[in-house]
Amino acid sequence: MNLIKVNNYEELSQKASEIIIKKIQDNPSFNLGLATGSTPEGMYRKLVEDHQNGGTSYKNVKTFNLDEYVGIPEDDPNSYHYFMNQHLLGHIDIEKSNTHIPNGNQMSDLQRECEEYEKLIDQSGGIDLQVLGLGVNGHVGFNEPGTPFESPTHIVELTQDTREANARFFNSLEEVPTHAVTMGISTIMKSKEIILLVSGAQKAHALSRLLNGEITEECPVTVLGKHPNVTIIADRAALGEE
Ligand code: F6R
Repeated sequence: MNLIKVNNYEELSQKASEIIIKKIQDNPSFNLGLATGSTPEGMYRKLVEDHQNGGTSYKNVKTFNLDEYVGIPEDDPNSYHYFMNQHLLGHIDIEKSNTHIPNGNQMSDLQRECEEYEKLIDQSGGIDLQVLGLGVNGHVGFNEPGTPFESPTHIVELTQDTREANARFFNSLEEVPTHAVTMGISTIMKSKEIILLVSGAQKAHALSRLLNGEITEECPVTVLGKHPNVTIIADRAALGEE
């Protein structure tokens, strides 16, 4: 694993955006795996600025998001569809048909939706670079502690910890969905390359388990220790240096 230490969130966002821009400039038909949440927001802002001022084109890029809540309409401000549109996809020249986010509203057959999503990624040639954030409890995507490492895209019941952590975006904890669709650990591990973005002291424990601990399903992010091409971008607070 390659660890890039940065001083703060601003530098993390800058570094992550530089890596992605370079990849897309080198290979305009790139398959990019994306995450939502607070951590990548700064990186998305910089990608948008670069697109508007520097002209990097996403015409032939395909994106695949990690996850989506179950039962929240796509146009609801708390859906990950909405988030992606607001922070990145609505501001770059990507073809809508090349953007993929699991459909958490396929209520009649969510299991089938999961299988189709997995197939879609494979048939598109796989993900060239997957961006990940890190949950306080060590989750990646919505793969909560205890998720088998072999899991493909699946439906997950969110833990109380995760619902509480995400309640800041909702009016109340009760409004936070109980389930989500997420790429599985095996889906994430099939990506050719991974960058993990970690910012803030509240992530320090989970990050230290990846950097120093054993590889265990009890802390999902530790699986990255088995991947051949991982870059971690972490700020001083996440590294426990503040
Ligand atoms: C989001 C996702 C989650 C987040 C994680 C950290 O698509 O997959 O694993 O990356 O919960 O969230 P933030 O960045 O809000 O701390």
